Amino acid sequence: MMETIENMVEMRFPSKAANIGFARTAVALFASQLEFTLDELDEIKIAVSEAVSNAVIHGYKGTEGEITVICRLTGNRLEVTVKDEGRGISNVQQALEPAFTTEPEERMGLGLVFVREYMDELVIDSEPGKGTCVFMAKSPSQTRVHS
Ligand SMILES: Nc1ncnc2c1ncn2[C@@H]1O[C@H](COP(=O)(O)OP(=O)(O)OP(=O)(O)O)[C@@H](O)[C@H]1O
Ligand SMILES: [Mg+2]
Repeated sequence: MMETIENMVEMRFPSKAANIGFARTAVALFASQLEFTLDELDEIKIAVSEAVSNAVIHGYKGTEGEITVICRLTGNRLEVTVKDEGRGISNVQQALEPAFTTEPEERMGLGLVFVREYMDELVIDSEPGKGTCVFMAKSPSQTRVHS
């Protein structure tokens, strides 16, 4: 059976640091169509900015490229996909480990740990030289009763 997509927004922007905050706020606004708590919206903001900063910092390190963010509402679930066509990740399992970073001098290696912690689902698809696709999903913990 086909899933009904109830709403969808797609954003494309160059990998400039200034766009990280834009994506973070835009996704949170889109997400607020569901009954997320303010804490959950904050978690979504953090997850989105970590994924988008990774695309800017690691995916397009030293160059500029295009980032695509797709938000979907399917039923009571928010799905967010962050895609880049940058360097890719050679070992996704390793990238997900706490404190693993390819830039130990500058970074903590915790971004993806937060994404995994704050979202219900995280799937990373990546190919070195081709790019990275980060899929994440989250549903509100509580459903408001409408009368
Ligand atoms: N979009 C991406 N393109 C290429 N490599 C990536 C991408 N996202 C993550 N990585 C790789 O995965 C590693 C782990 O990412 P993670 O966000 O957990 O840590 P970090 O970005 O290194 O540090 P922090 O997020 O704490 O600043 C990165 O160091 C990088 O090598
Ligand atoms: Mg990171």
